[in-house]
Amino acid sequence: MKYSTLALGLVSSFGLAWINTVQANISLTIRQDIAGNVSFPTLYGYMYEDINHSGDGGIYAEMIRNRAFQMNDTGGAPDLAHYSSVNGGGSSSTIKLDSAVPLNDVLTHTLRLDITQVKQGGRAGFSNEGWEGIRIQPGEKYMASFFAKSSKYTGPLTVSIESSSGTVLAKATVPSIGSSFKKYTIELAPSVKTTTTDNVFVISTSSTNASGSIWFDVISLFPPTFKNRANGLRTDLGQILADTKPSFFRFPGGNNIEGVNAQSRWKWNETIGPIETRPGRLGDWGYMNTDGQGLLEYLEMCEDLNMEPVLAVWAGYSLDQKSIAEADLGPYVQDTLNELEYVMGSTKTKYGALRASHGHAEPFDLKYVEVGNEDFFSTTYDYRYKAWYTAIKKAYPKLQIIATGGETSSPMETLDDHYYLSGPDMVADYNKYDNHPRNGTTIMVGEYATNINGCCGTSPANVQAAVADAVFASGLERNSDLVQFAAYAPTFTRDGQAQWNPDLIGFNTEQVWGTPSYYVQQMWSANRADMILQVDAANGNLGPLYWVAGSKNSTKQVFLKVANYGSSSQTASINLKGSRVHSQGVSIVLSGGVNDTNSAASPKNVVPKTSTFNIAGGNTFNFTFPAWSASVLLLHNM
Ligand code: AHR
Repeated sequence: MKYSTLALGLVSSFGLAWINTVQANISLTIRQDIAGNVSFPTLYGYMYEDINHSGDGGIYAEMIRNRAFQMNDTGGAPDLAHYSSVNGGGSSSTIKLDSAVPLNDVLTHTLRLDITQVKQGGRAGFSNEGWEGIRIQPGEKYMASFFAKSSKYTGPLTVSIESSSGTVLAKATVPSIGSSFKKYTIELAPSVKTTTTDNVFVISTSSTNASGSIWFDVISLFPPTFKNRANGLRTDLGQILADTKPSFFRFPGGNNIEGVNAQSRWKWNETIGPIETRPGRLGDWGYMNTDGQGLLEYLEMCEDLNMEPVLAVWAGYSLDQKSIAEADLGPYVQDTLNELEYVMGSTKTKYGALRASHGHAEPFDLKYVEVGNEDFFSTTYDYRYKAWYTAIKKAYPKLQIIATGGETSSPMETLDDHYYLSGPDMVADYNKYDNHPRNGTTIMVGEYATNINGCCGTSPANVQAAVADAVFASGLERNSDLVQFAAYAPTFTRDGQAQWNPDLIGFNTEQVWGTPSYYVQQMWSANRADMILQVDAANGNLGPLYWVAGSKNSTKQVFLKVANYGSSSQTASINLKGSRVHSQGVSIVLSGGVNDTNSAASPKNVVPKTSTFNIAGGNTFNFTFPAWSASVLLLHNM
């Protein structure tokens, strides 16, 4: 297939006997009579980093905010934010942050409950407000855990989930506590008929003989998680990712791997092991990351969502635009090799054995490693890439290395390009890779999103942006013999906490919703071809319609994806050359006004609609693409 033919949508040279009654604006001929290009099976996936409060308080299912007093919300000294004293029936107690009685060497602050008096029928303790509440749903059980020790009180303690007005939804008792730190785990089974979020988590005692101090740390509450993973994902946020059938997962950044300086970079070895051994970190998006979701959890997430991990490793450059000098790179490169051994090493290796001790004996089948992030901003990538490339290849010759800067004198296997452009610029890039050299270096578009207002991060997520995304993604898919990976970014935002707009998926404590761009991703990704077919256009120009066609051998399906980046509907006469299809096709169409979007108040305002349509004569039909729309037409070969 000639890329230039695709690029220009050249007029086909043969006559077609159109049988349509509606006047078509353009004729598209899908060429199943000639061999297409084989598409990379990894094409659509996700780029994920903790931005917009999307990790803690988001996809990571932990419900307690500030569970381990690692630091305050913005990375400063730890505090007791999000906790309150509970004193019922005239009882008296206080809570304090205590740095004199640490849990261990890593978590050096505890919550100290000092009980003066518990009155008959009263109670003393504390509550945690969660992340804008705690979502309790019918039929769910919740796993509470905490470390505690006391100065003299031996128990019991009551653990409860309560509405903010005091209705107890569930409670359970820890019968006794001791004088040295121990972990207590207890199940809470609320019997509720509706979902509520205006709830708090409480640990208290009603014993009138309670007095003295009780220290607490790593106070945790987990709902059921996606695929029931311990320390796992919020089920609804995991499911919305799964619904696009993603193929890969690029993590942990993005900016969030780089560090605002080298010292504050994402350190893989501080994100592994029992959560009570993780110090947490001030993330690059200006708020604290507990790192409860760490390297192993990300890899397990890939297993649960059937995604190929694309592991980004720190490569000697931070957001302060400083680079580690070439002569000093050794320990950092070695750190990456240790990380890779943790991921891929057998249990006979030091770090493979460590991974096994964390519950995952089987090595991960990692295939892709990305060296750095957006290193086109630096002038030092050549020597840094060389150091990482050489060392990784020596240890793991089969790993595919992804570069993030354009110019290197070392071999470049894959280059990560990022696009945050206005609608017209994204549309103009439909042809971006048509004539790109096919010289063995593949392309990752590791981040893209239409930013209606231009780069970067200050634009709405709306239908116009989604349609421009569809145009751009169609261009990538047409070139998916070259473009191996494509991911929209950022993936998530907590409602009201966006640091970057637009995002793919919004959520709050109660709900999750896709933006119009999410549905484009879902439509384009879930309807995946393995062969890209040439499309010839006649009697019309490229634009406002943009398209890609492909087929999937195993299911005998033909896909035509069309974006209408324009304010009037467009009718196309569509012909399949070289094949006949069943007389009924399926259309999935997303459309709306340019500014239409989804939100907490209206999460399904813009969603795709699925219908069937008739195909007369086995290979020819008309289809009208609404104004501002993205459509997938599914046809089935005879
Ligand atoms: O997606 C938001 C940011 O955009 C990423 O962290 C960074 O890689 C890019 O500049």
